[in-house]
Amino acid sequence: MLTCQKHRFSLPEDLHYLNTAYMSPLLRQVEAAGIAGIRRKRNPATIDAAAFFAESDRVRERFAALVNAPDPSRIALIPSASYGLATAAQNLPVPRCARIVVAGEQFPSNVYPWRRLAAERGAVVHTVPAPAGPERGRRWNERLLDAITPGTAIVALGHVHWTDGTRFDLERIGGRAREVGAALVVDGTQSVGALPFDVQALQPDALVCAGYKWLMGPYSLGVAYFGPRFDDGRPLEENWITRRGSEVFSGLVDYVDAYQPGAVRYDVGERSNFILVPMLRAALDQLADWGVAAIQDYGRRLSDDLIAEARTLGYAVEDAAWRSAHLVGLRLPPGRPRERLLAALAARHVVVSVRGEAIRVSAHVYNDEDDMQALLDALHAAAG
Ligand SMILES: Cc1ncc(COP(=O)(O)O)c(C=O)c1O
Repeated sequence: MLTCQKHRFSLPEDLHYLNTAYMSPLLRQVEAAGIAGIRRKRNPATIDAAAFFAESDRVRERFAALVNAPDPSRIALIPSASYGLATAAQNLPVPRCARIVVAGEQFPSNVYPWRRLAAERGAVVHTVPAPAGPERGRRWNERLLDAITPGTAIVALGHVHWTDGTRFDLERIGGRAREVGAALVVDGTQSVGALPFDVQALQPDALVCAGYKWLMGPYSLGVAYFGPRFDDGRPLEENWITRRGSEVFSGLVDYVDAYQPGAVRYDVGERSNFILVPMLRAALDQLADWGVAAIQDYGRRLSDDLIAEARTLGYAVEDAAWRSAHLVGLRLPPGRPRERLLAALAARHVVVSVRGEAIRVSAHVYNDEDDMQALLDALHAAAG
């Protein structure tokens, strides 16, 4: 069972940072890897041709292992979730009048590419909003399943909703998508690294993750899995290093049209970034060491008592069966002024995100009971 890992981070002692869903703090070893990467360019002779490939491949291997992808060559290095999702949108067939199914109030990086694609192809983005009332999570999932009709070309979702952690049953949703021949594109930015994800079991066509939240990496480097549907696709850029034989620098002007196998063609230009890549690798090593299931379990142990007590204060929280434990939305009781809560949080140095009428609590292994108590104190103060 995991114990608190705060000693591996450099967070201020008096801060209760419960906001990994915004951005994870830096692990000490990830920071050290970044500094070593900066120092390395003092002397470029230390960066040989092999380094352009070996280190990126290590990130592929580690991410593939984290999500049980069948082969590291199916992992692309991307600068952002938007980039990975734009790659997916560019390569999926969408007939006229077809449906692209998304959930209501999804993160914009996983909405705008589909709006553009729909406009270009004469297709329709079909948004499934969260229902009001009891059993919200279960009914939302049912509505999503109902929305995946035979005319659906793409289903684009997260594993959890980014504002409140509502869980989408990707096993059933993916099964339904395959039944009608639709592609399943998953934005794993708010779940992968903290909630187990198994590519071989869930069979998404693409899984796209920004790296700076639950993967605990630096900003501006993420990873994406692309399945066989994308094998002959067109990348957003025409990059030299993604070409077959690019390892031989002396032959780079013997231009070749063929790409490296798998999803490597979708790598961003300068993907070998000698600062960011070692940082993400160090972060993925730490996640593997802790274990994703153990991280989720740690989040549950921290959030269970918080949720029980928040409910007694009138906050609405999704049913346990339909939400994650690492990212939890507490919806304010009707009529409770938000400003009072924000002031109570600030006075106690508690950092969470406010999204609409919910506060988003996203704890990680650097948090402990003191952090949760400080948050509860703020909820009590705002109620009284
Ligand atoms: C669900 C989700 N996807 C993606 C992102 C980040 O997107 P991008 O990497 O395109 O900036 C966020 C950031 O909050 C997010 O919550």
